Amino acid sequence: MAAAKEEVQRVPFGRLPTGEEVDAWVLRAGGVEARVVGYGGAIVALRVPDREGRVADVVLGYDDVQGYVDGRAYLGALIGRYANRIRGGCFRLDGREYALPVNDGPNHLHGGPLGFHRALWRVEPLDTTEGAGVALAHDSPNGDQGYPGAVRARVAYRLTARGELVVDYRADSDRPTPVNLTQHSYFNLTGDPARDILDHRLRLEADRFTPVDATLIPTGETAPVAGTPFDFREPAAIGGRIGADHPQLARAGGYDHNFVIRGGGLRLAARVHEPGSGRVLEVHTTEPGIQFYSGNFLDGTERGKGGARPGRRCGFCLEPQHFPDSPNQPAFPSAILRPGETYSSRTVYRFGVE
Ligand code: BGC
Repeated sequence: MAAAKEEVQRVPFGRLPTGEEVDAWVLRAGGVEARVVGYGGAIVALRVPDREGRVADVVLGYDDVQGYVDGRAYLGALIGRYANRIRGGCFRLDGREYALPVNDGPNHLHGGPLGFHRALWRVEPLDTTEGAGVALAHDSPNGDQGYPGAVRARVAYRLTARGELVVDYRADSDRPTPVNLTQHSYFNLTGDPARDILDHRLRLEADRFTPVDATLIPTGETAPVAGTPFDFREPAAIGGRIGADHPQLARAGGYDHNFVIRGGGLRLAARVHEPGSGRVLEVHTTEPGIQFYSGNFLDGTERGKGGARPGRRCGFCLEPQHFPDSPNQPAFPSAILRPGETYSSRTVYRFGVE
């Protein structure tokens, strides 16, 4: 078998305003091609076949590194230290109060304005016997974006011979600190970023979700999806009930909610089928929750790949995660990493056709 390193190609992607060169790492396996860059640890392209074998790029992104520097929608990026929101940018840990920058109305979002999506991760080919992969490393110093502790974050992207993209997250810290890492790819399985995703059919392995207040912070309860537009236990078009008269949809301008994934361990969390192309995406994860975001805030103002300007709901995110605002929500699974422990989570994106 060919060594995995040989299936990893490195091509120039661009130069950061600081002068640093950024390369794209091209992974190929199982009929899928992924491109990863060190800036933000982002997936900049993911090419998968449709039911006729026609390959198209199914993630939103920008053509060049400047697009990622200027971008405001976290397209394709790794998110840390804390994916999603922390109320008021404040939390208490072991009797101390911490203040984080507020960058989403009154709240802290996605690790702050200079979160891991703005870091230049070190990238090297992954030594693996199967498929093709890259290993990314980022060291976040004590006090970074207001968080305590020096955190070493390590992420591996691996494409398998079965056409799966496996993402492994590891982190450790020299002081207690919240850690919640995720991947912020926006998918459009039609392969056309100018089309909306409302016809995609979604299934979520969730009986409950975490309702939010007016600033999209969980109220603390988990509510049953049964009898609401949040019930995706059977496949349903994303657009089918998105305009329904429901206070939770009104607050977020559509879906932008954390779903409580049934069961534990690495299990199926979400399955999406795009009827036109036949493409299927399954998301499996070890995380307790998944944020389903229907791209409500995309507004066509950013210049995306090939000049396309993805508009409202032209991409959706499925972000495996700990529940939003966990540091302030004692009833939610803890997202605190302590010295001597290793944060570890895995997400698998499995592509197919139907
Ligand atoms: C959040 C959205 C936010 C988006 C940023 C998602 O993870 O849930 O509310 O607007 O990220 O583009």
